[in-house]
Amino acid sequence: MAGIDIPRETWATRTGFILAAVGSAVGLGNIWRFPFQVGQEGGAAFLLIYLLFIALIGFPAMLVEFVVGRHTERNPVGALKAIAGGAWSYVGWIFIATGFVILSYYSVVAGWTIRYTILGLQDGYLADAGEAEGQFVELASGLDAIFFHALFMAVVIVIVAFGIQRGIELAVKVMVPAIIVITVGMAIYAFTLEGASEAYSYYLSPEWGVIAAEWQSIFPAAAGQAFFTLSLGMGVMITYASYLGEDRNLAEDGAIVIGFDTAIAFITGLIVFPILFTAGVDPADPGAGAIFVSLAAAFGDLALGWIIGAIFFGTVAIAALSSAISLMEVVVSYVVDERNVDRKVAAFGIGIALFLLGLPSAYDLVLLDLFDLFADQILLVLGGLLLMILVSWSLSELAVDELSRGIGDLGSLGPAWIWAVRIPVVVVLIVALVLGILDYYE
Ligand code: PHE
Ligand code: NA
Repeated sequence: MAGIDIPRETWATRTGFILAAVGSAVGLGNIWRFPFQVGQEGGAAFLLIYLLFIALIGFPAMLVEFVVGRHTERNPVGALKAIAGGAWSYVGWIFIATGFVILSYYSVVAGWTIRYTILGLQDGYLADAGEAEGQFVELASGLDAIFFHALFMAVVIVIVAFGIQRGIELAVKVMVPAIIVITVGMAIYAFTLEGASEAYSYYLSPEWGVIAAEWQSIFPAAAGQAFFTLSLGMGVMITYASYLGEDRNLAEDGAIVIGFDTAIAFITGLIVFPILFTAGVDPADPGAGAIFVSLAAAFGDLALGWIIGAIFFGTVAIAALSSAISLMEVVVSYVVDERNVDRKVAAFGIGIALFLLGLPSAYDLVLLDLFDLFADQILLVLGGLLLMILVSWSLSELAVDELSRGIGDLGSLGPAWIWAVRIPVVVVLIVALVLGILDYYE
């Protein structure tokens, strides 16, 4: 196999690996999707269902990706070749393709967050919802969007080009603590706002009625969100775990990553809704522009909203960056491992290709939505599903063995894990895939 004699990179520290995985997990999914989902789909009742899915689906699935990565010490394509071979290698390819497509438009959205950080510093948020919408439409596509998409991509290229220890690990050691500190700080600020208590009850009062009436759409949505928010189904966790040089407790690492991801998502709701309620902005419309329209309008209305907004969007940009580098690393690791290409060359070449692929999304919001729907609801679920079937049904012994390295004898927890993947994870993904395909062709 190409490149097998070159010593492979590894994380310098355990914290480095965990921070990188947390950095990947915490992203637009937490900040932009999650709070609005909770607010709309039943408050605390939805939150409980979501937590159930995280524990029942997200956690076991994350461990599957971890063990595949650590066992093979390879990129997703190489990993699938090594553990299964034959047609299964194509599953690795699905991962690479998913990461590639998602990153192309993720970078466009991330570009908006940079633009909106600058907009705050220019005191440019517009309090009128209609005007804020107009401003978003203007900034979200066209030259502005292309410029910031390019800028964001350039930063991703530089970080990934520096490699695991000196690039990604160093970057996340700064970024992830910053995200955590700022998020908590903003939640404390939001607590002091006049609309806070009304906002908390909107966000957190359990409405079982909503769940009872709409469970058919809520359950798949919660499951899909559980997968997306934990960066599963794209080979990210395979790739990151492939740089683990040593044995350690992967179940513990996974639980830490999930804890942080969930905490940040939850806390973001404690920030967003008090701001919206205080400014008198309706939180009920979580369209593509939710944070860029409603929240930006609220910042336009609040005292000192410009600087609070700039800090908020700046933090979102950082969160998006630490997710984007993980997606880029999936593709780069493939080219480096399997094709023996120099990392810097790979990062640059792939970055340019991603920039080009993102142009349609930067040009037209409708195209961005199509890319998102296709990648997120079909490709991601398909890749994840096939991997889960493969590992839980035909490689269960290898998987349990690998997980026990660094933990010790798993006892009955081993089979419990495998069965959680075999039935709940697989069934949920099949349902999500069917619904995703129906949705796409609608
Ligand atoms: N987990 C990220 C989020 O919540 C999204 C993501 C998915 C990032 C897959 C990288 C890979 O926004
Ligand atoms: Na997330």
